[in-house]
Amino acid sequence: MELFKWSNRYSVCIESIDEEHKGLFQLLNRLYTSLTEGDAQEILAEVIDELFEYTQKHFRREESLLKQVEYPYLKNHIALHEYFEQSIVRYREQLYSDPSSLTIDILSFLRDWLIQHIQGVDMDYVPYLKAKNLS
Ligand SMILES: [Fe+2]
Repeated sequence: MELFKWSNRYSVCIESIDEEHKGLFQLLNRLYTSLTEGDAQEILAEVIDELFEYTQKHFRREESLLKQVEYPYLKNHIALHEYFEQSIVRYREQLYSDPSSLTIDILSFLRDWLIQHIQGVDMDYVPYLKAKNLS
């Protein structure tokens, strides 16, 4: 089931980053499928773990690119990434303490955050990467 559909309006015009953002969308779709199909707690935990690991890798890569171009708002950008990572960790803990509380609400949060982040602050760094040909 595809709940989060990638479209060009999410493109930051940097292929490698777009590809990773697409990967995040795919993982959210997998989480959605798991939740709606009532998958076991272990499967949900696996998907959340994978989402967490993928997110971490992606954020660190993005941050290292921004460091290379001396992006002036890097500190703020890192703080936003950390907030998202902490949210995933919280949901994972919640999954163990009270599995029934893990609902579609989580997905709306993750999706809204991700879309706002990609369409907002991620777009802001594009000119800096382009100027240094790091795209
Ligand atoms: Fe970002």
